[in-house]
Amino acid sequence: MNKIAIIYWSQTGNTKLMAEQILAGAKTAGAEVDLFSVDEIASATALTYDVLALGCPAMGAEVLEEMEFQPFFDELLPHLAGKKIALFGSYGWGTGEWMQTWQQEVIDSNAILYNQEGLIVNESPDEQGTEQCQNLGAALASF
Ligand SMILES: Cc1cc2nc3c(=O)[nH]c(=O)nc-3n(C[C@H](O)[C@H](O)[C@H](O)COP(=O)(O)O)c2cc1C
Repeated sequence: MNKIAIIYWSQTGNTKLMAEQILAGAKTAGAEVDLFSVDEIASATALTYDVLALGCPAMGAEVLEEMEFQPFFDELLPHLAGKKIALFGSYGWGTGEWMQTWQQEVIDSNAILYNQEGLIVNESPDEQGTEQCQNLGAALASF
């Protein structure tokens, strides 16, 4: 069974809610899983996990949050080849462009991206979004 780290940045709590539901789904599936906000874990520690579920909302103009999350991701990126990765995040008024850019970076790094795309939810996860997050967590247990 995979050892999973869920690592997120969230300003107003929407991506955090997603992370918590991914955690719940993974636990239900019996996975060994830890949840961190990005300031709670070093990139070297993150790389000891089998699966990294990375969460960040759309910020700036369709980019990752630049002060904490982007530097963390930049440290991971050269080491992602062959790693199992899932991406998730909340967005507001856009079309999910930030996630398309982000998922392409992960694919280009030769990581194994779950579902070939990230899970995006508009603002706070509704019932369907919550279920999608739980299903993602459960799927990562045996990804
Ligand atoms: C500074 C700032 C920049 C944002 N930029 C975008 C954006 O480019 N595209 C978008 O769809 N939403 C954007 N949003 C909206 C957030 O992605 C959205 O509110 C999201 O739910 C926030 O997630 P969080 O609660 O995890 O912080 C922005 C919000 C803020 C505060």
